[in-house]
Amino acid sequence: MRSAAAFLALLLCLYWTRAQGESGGVTENDITQTEVQSEILDVKATSDQTNITPDIWAELEELRDMVIQHSVELRKMEKLEQENTAIQARLTASEIKNAVLEARLNTAENVVEELKRENTVLEARMNNCEKVVEELKRENSDLKTRLNTAENVVEELKRENTVLEARMSSNELQVEELKRENAEQPKVAFSVGLTDAGYVGPFNTEITLKFSKIFTNIGQAYSPTTGVFTAPVRGTYYFRFTGFETRSSNWMGIYLYHNDKRITISDDINDSHGYVSVSNGFVLQLEKGDVIYLVLPSGYLVYDSANNRTTFSGFLLFAM
Ligand SMILES: *[C@@H]1O[C@H](CO)[C@@H](O)[C@H](O)[C@H]1NC(C)=O
Ligand SMILES: *[C@@H]1O[C@H](CO)[C@@H](O)[C@H](O)[C@H]1NC(C)=O
Repeated sequence: MRSAAAFLALLLCLYWTRAQGESGGVTENDITQTEVQSEILDVKATSDQTNITPDIWAELEELRDMVIQHSVELRKMEKLEQENTAIQARLTASEIKNAVLEARLNTAENVVEELKRENTVLEARMNNCEKVVEELKRENSDLKTRLNTAENVVEELKRENTVLEARMSSNELQVEELKRENAEQPKVAFSVGLTDAGYVGPFNTEITLKFSKIFTNIGQAYSPTTGVFTAPVRGTYYFRFTGFETRSSNWMGIYLYHNDKRITISDDINDSHGYVSVSNGFVLQLEKGDVIYLVLPSGYLVYDSANNRTTFSGFLLFAM
């Protein structure tokens, strides 16, 4: 019996060693193995001294089962330790990763802060820009209004200018017309004296006085050879004359004729100082070819000398 117990202990020992070899563990399992071996040896020693009852097999079997169970639990623990190690390694890696992410997060937050500040600055500048834009819009509107007004004024001035140009053109035409009329207008004016030879008359018939001293005879409408003025154009003329006489005993007088129509009898006599004179003037409307002349009435006399006392003048006021 003693030898049988020792054999069983040996078997257990062998089994244990093999289980250790399979798991590869060499840590605290070795201590447990040593304890078991010593327990078995104790059992062997005890079995050497005393008789072992058949119950010992049951106890040994129970012991064996406990050892097996213990072994299984140990393996579980080893596995858990390995897993723990792996988890710790992963945890460490995660912590490193976390630190990196925190650093990046801090950087990102700094960037966000920086961007917020820049945003504030940009907002302020943007507000300023918007104000400037509003101001420019107002100014633009004002300028547009002024431009419109100015354009209206320009349009008005253009219209006035057009009207003035039309009037100016018309005036220029009128000026040209007047220049032409003026150029076409006959120039007629004369002043003549009767004679330097003293008395003319008296005659027993009327005579046309022939004024022979020519002061002016523009247009040659007055003829000194006949004493007659002939109207070169239809128009309005002015004529005047003065007659003089020194003998108070004789009538002095002059008639003015338009064609065969007498216009005036102008005469005088017996001035207390011995000198008599007449003077008269008329505006007459003449047809072209009409004649004007002065007549000495029958029995009358008139006097002239180098003093140019008896004269006849006339000119065209305007043609018609
Ligand atoms: C002229 O008048 C004077 C007086 O003033 C007179 O003596 C003389 O007779 C008059 N002569 C004639 C011609 O009438
Ligand atoms: C009369 O007319 C002539 C000619 O124009 C002139 O020479 C003369 O001086 C005049 N006589 C007087 C007294 O003015």
